[in-house]
Amino acid sequence: MSTRNTIILAAGKGTRMKSKLYKVLHKVCGKAMVDHVLTQVEKTNMDKVVTIVGYGADDVKATLGDRTQYALQAKQLGTGDAVLQAEPILKDEEGTTLIVSGDTPLFQAQTFEDLFAYHEAKHAAATILTSVAPDPTGYGRIVRNNIGIVEKIVEQKDANSEEQEIHEINTGVYVFDNKKLFAALHKTSNDNAQGEYYLTDVVEILKHDGDIVAAYKMADFDESMGVNDRVALANATKIMRDRINEQHMRDGVTLIDPATTYIDAGVKIGADTIIEPGVQLKGNTVIGDDCYIGSHSELRNTTLADHVTVTSSLLEDSDMASGSNIGPNSHLRPESHIGPKVHLGNFVEVKKATIGEGTKVGHLTYVGNAKLGKNINVGCGVVFVNYDGKNKHETVVGDDAFIGSNSNLVAPLDVADHSFIAAGSTITDAVNQYDMAIARERQTNKPNYYQKLPYRGED
Ligand code: UD1
Ligand code: CA
Repeated sequence: MSTRNTIILAAGKGTRMKSKLYKVLHKVCGKAMVDHVLTQVEKTNMDKVVTIVGYGADDVKATLGDRTQYALQAKQLGTGDAVLQAEPILKDEEGTTLIVSGDTPLFQAQTFEDLFAYHEAKHAAATILTSVAPDPTGYGRIVRNNIGIVEKIVEQKDANSEEQEIHEINTGVYVFDNKKLFAALHKTSNDNAQGEYYLTDVVEILKHDGDIVAAYKMADFDESMGVNDRVALANATKIMRDRINEQHMRDGVTLIDPATTYIDAGVKIGADTIIEPGVQLKGNTVIGDDCYIGSHSELRNTTLADHVTVTSSLLEDSDMASGSNIGPNSHLRPESHIGPKVHLGNFVEVKKATIGEGTKVGHLTYVGNAKLGKNINVGCGVVFVNYDGKNKHETVVGDDAFIGSNSNLVAPLDVADHSFIAAGSTITDAVNQYDMAIARERQTNKPNYYQKLPYRGED
């Protein structure tokens, strides 16, 4: 039976990135480059997928998990040597093998399918995916003879001045007859400028053996971009960002200024949501329908239900239920669960807290390690005092409670339903249902004392 398999090359260090992080793990729109590649491969219905790991093998495996098999390339002797490491897993497969590099994050599954179709139509032993680069520097060049037949691929460092003029480049994506691929790889040598075993040399070897090598020229160079340094990383990110933004707009999301809207690859957004300029939506953020995300808001791994309004605020690892709103200039720290129709106003910080339906926290307040019920009014400048210098403690506030402005609620603390805390109180003991708690000095007025003060205003 004929099978379709894929090898993803991801063992290189990525010296040109000048980074402690291995190249294929650098992120493009929040997702590792090699993960982008695997995601597209997964859309193409492969029998086996083998990722070649070497530098940072454990980190690459942790990123991709069990979505792929792995083969270890212990020493980075070149792309040809890398592919050979998949031989034990793939050698008995009758069929075709797609090879992709882990540093080409912009490829789309349809292009792989087109390549397979072309390969089959040409009855080729190998088909190279090529494109035409405005600036081909750094890429392998496609050398064709005078009637346009591919002769070989020449690497930048091995290319003579005439070959360096060629703009048609090797995208690093190929489809091979599986068995012919491995047979040819055993014939490669490292006699070249970089002293590496080049996968690209397989082209000449197959041709020498009388096999057909085809080249499929894709129309869009951008999609084939390889990322070897941070400049290319930024270029790839820009292209991916435009692609992501366009898809959201086509799906019914209004982006007021797509050029300044930064949405990660995994983010989901419902229809009729409006996103103002300068917004960043990161990680696994999910936004419902009819939401409004105001300028310069940043949401990380946050879930918003429908009809939520966020105005210039930072939200991390939290969720907000339908009809709730926050901001401007507020901060949800991780594990904040905001109920339906909750109002969080200006300069409010919430951390590890649950806030029940209809509760209002309007101004200048810190809510940490707390459970708040429904329809509570939290006044201005309230502090949930959750930390004793060593441990964090919890405060529980029942439904319909009223917390006066400038109060301190010193945890651990229970404030019952339908209770009232007077403004300016520092509350350390439980407050029972229907109590009013007041914990401050009574006001004293000293008649005519103003006249004795050293400072006096105009009479
Ligand atoms: C490679 C191609 C070049 C092509 C370009 C497209 C070769 C010899 N050259 O060059 O023709 O134009 O890609 O982007 O194939 N890797 C390993 N093990 C190794 C070496 C590399 O797994 O020993 C992996 C890297 O992690 C990377 C991929 O193979 O994901 C490509 O290697 P890289 O060094 O980036 O090759 P290029 O110089 O870009
Ligand atoms: Ca590369």
